[in-house]
Order: sequence, then C-alpha cells, then structure tokens
Amino acid sequence: MSKLNEQIISGFQHKPDGEVFFTDAIEQEGHSHAKSVYEHFMSQSYAPLEIVSDKNALEEINAAKEHLDAFNNFLIIGTGGSSLGGKMLCGLSKNNLASLNFIENTDFDTIEQVIKDSDPKKTAIIAISKSGETAETLSVFSIFYQWLQSYVGESAYKQCLIITEDKTSSLKTIAAQEGIYTLNHHLEIGGRYSVFSNVGLLPALLSGLNIDQILMGAEKCLNEFKSEANNHILQGALYNFLFLKHHQKTSTVMLYYADRLNYLGLWFRQLWAESIGKSGKGSNPVPALGTVDQHSQLQLWLDGPKDKIFTVITLDQKQKGQAIHFSDCPEKINYLEGKTIGDLMDAEQRAITQVLKENNCPVREIRLPHLDEETMGGLLMQFMIETILMADFLDVNPFDQPAVEQGKILTKQYLS
Ligand code: PA5
Repeated sequence: MSKLNEQIISGFQHKPDGEVFFTDAIEQEGHSHAKSVYEHFMSQSYAPLEIVSDKNALEEINAAKEHLDAFNNFLIIGTGGSSLGGKMLCGLSKNNLASLNFIENTDFDTIEQVIKDSDPKKTAIIAISKSGETAETLSVFSIFYQWLQSYVGESAYKQCLIITEDKTSSLKTIAAQEGIYTLNHHLEIGGRYSVFSNVGLLPALLSGLNIDQILMGAEKCLNEFKSEANNHILQGALYNFLFLKHHQKTSTVMLYYADRLNYLGLWFRQLWAESIGKSGKGSNPVPALGTVDQHSQLQLWLDGPKDKIFTVITLDQKQKGQAIHFSDCPEKINYLEGKTIGDLMDAEQRAITQVLKENNCPVREIRLPHLDEETMGGLLMQFMIETILMADFLDVNPFDQPAVEQGKILTKQYLS
C-alpha cells in the first residue's frame, strides 16, 4: 500500500494462494521497459498536464463566469472530450448553484424536452468545440441559438459563450459574426485531455466547485509522479500492459463506490479507448458503479471469462449517513438493523474487493478517505498519466484518433 495525496493505493495483487501471475523474467523485463517509458515521459512536456500550474488560466474562467452571472440554467453543448470532463466534474458538486444540462447527442427528443424545460430569459448556452467543425455540436448549437433568438431577439448572442480554437473554423466564424463572447481552446490540448482547461473548469465553476482545489490536487499528483515519490501510476500502466500481453486481460474495469463518481467512468472510458485503441492494440475500458453493478455485471466478472483486471475505488463511508431501522425488524434482515447506510456500503465494497481477489481477478484498490475537489483533481491526473504511459508501453500515439475520421467523411457524404 502506498499514498498519493490522501489516497491509499495497492498495486494489482498477486494471486491469493501464493501463485504469481508473472515469472521473474517477465517482471524483470517489464520493469526495465517501465524504466524507459518513465524516462520518455520525463523527457517530454505535456500541455494537458502542465496546464494545472498555469494560474493565469483561472482569471479568464472567473471572468467568463461573471459574464454568465445573470443566468441559472446552462445548456452546455459539446461532445466527447468537449463535454465529458466538465460533466464529470459537475457530477461531483453538492452545491447545485445552477442547473447544468450537457447536450451531447443529436437526439431530437432530448432537444425538444430541454427546450420545453428551459426558461429562455434565465438560460445561457455554452458551445464547446476544439475544432469548431464538429457537425453534431454545430447543429445542436444552431437549434438552441434559434430558439433563444425567437424569445429574446437580437440580444441572444449576449446569452452565449463559445470555447473553440483561435483559428479559422465554422464555429469561430459564427462567433465573430454574432459577436459571441469567446474563450480560446488551448491549441496543444486535445478534447479528452482538456478537463483541466477552460473546457472542464468553466462548467465546474458554474456548478459551484472550487476549481483552485481541483488544480491543486492535480498538481500535487503530477509533482509526486515526477519526483518519483510515488511510482504506483507507472506500476498501474505496467500491469495493465503485462496483463494484456501475457494473460490476455483485454478489459480494464473501473468500479467505484460513489454516485458522485458516476461520470468518472464515462470520462475514463473515452480517455482510455480513444488514446490507446489503435493499430490493432488496446484494451476495453469498462465503467461500473458499486453497488448497482454488483446486480448487473458481477456474475460475469466472477464466473465468465477471466479476461479482466479491476481498479476498485472505494470511499470511507463507515458510520456515515442515515440509520437503517424497522420498528419490527424481520429476522432475516436483522443484520441491517441499527447500521448506517454508509456501514452497508463499507461492507459491500470490502466484500466485493475480497471476492474478486479470491476468484483470482487482479485487483488494484484506491481508497479515498473523502471525496472533494482536491481528491478528484489527483485522481484525474493519475488516470491521464497512466493512459499516456500505457500508450507508450503499447507504442501508440495517445493524442490522435485517426480511425474516427472515416465515419465523419461518410456522414458528410450521406448529407451532401
Ligand atoms: O477527445 C477528442 O479529441 C474527441 O472526443 C473530441 O473531443 C470530440 O470529437 C469533439 O471534438 P471537438 O471538440 O473538435 O468538437
């Protein structure tokens, strides 16, 4: 067990019966490969990670929030990396200062419903697209912009904000034509790595989160990794790689025991899938929410093909929350009487972690004493670094997504 920020982490464990997953030769080769991967990482500068120390970036985010202060309903239009980071962070907020609606899909039913539920006078639209050319985002934005114009007239542009790259694009042209308040999308930061930029932090700020603390947690994690004070991130990537290569563990499950982490898995799924799934290589990211997925996927994990490794993120929940009480408690559920809902969650997360291990599933545990902005910042940085390292182990470029272009070209042809 080691510590990162306040997390307590165990690496992927060996089989409980004393058998090991890897021979000494594989371990040795793995560690020398890991050494070169680490050295390569240290020789680069990664803008999506380094941005956490850029305090100037916060000023423009705070100014943008002020620009939107008159509104309490935000429609955030974007897709993939232009939405998942912000959505995930907003899922952490307990404050709910405003209503934030992420419109990621081109589903007319959803759009109609959002229009029905929104008061145009209280609504602001935030459109996010790095390229400024994404058909889904531009189309959805056009519909909501027309809707706003039909109620508030020419001043509709004042209720909008656009985040896009500072270069010629369709969205940039629209922003200029309409006079819409615009923030620049960082040129060296790709969508799925943009959570620590204005793309993730503006929605987070609007939802009432302390974004300085998110960055603080992330920066601490990055510094610890760089100073080698903690090498569990490198170990995480190494064992993902070794289990894939030598044991055909083609899925990596992320199981977390907190509703507020629900979107973490969706964010991670995109990060991992788009970053490492190329040239015939990669592993399948599987998000899972405890306890819900114990009643959904657990049977497969324990009794189906042994092709998965597990990262279990638990939260200290013992004695937290309301008490369970029945005035005349049936005997069968007597074990619940007087316990808190947190006690139940605590027992469940411990039990499932143990059961997975006893069934020879490689498990890594990340125990969070509490869940706040700083912890979240650290977790996100950790998974971003791990993804970049895993791509290096597999010798693929973590920052491109060449295969998705094919679908875009064909969609365009069908509409032309
Ligand atoms: O991570 C990525 O690069 C993608 O998922 C993009 O974020 C997504 O395709 C949206 O692109 P854009 O921000 O250019 O609209």
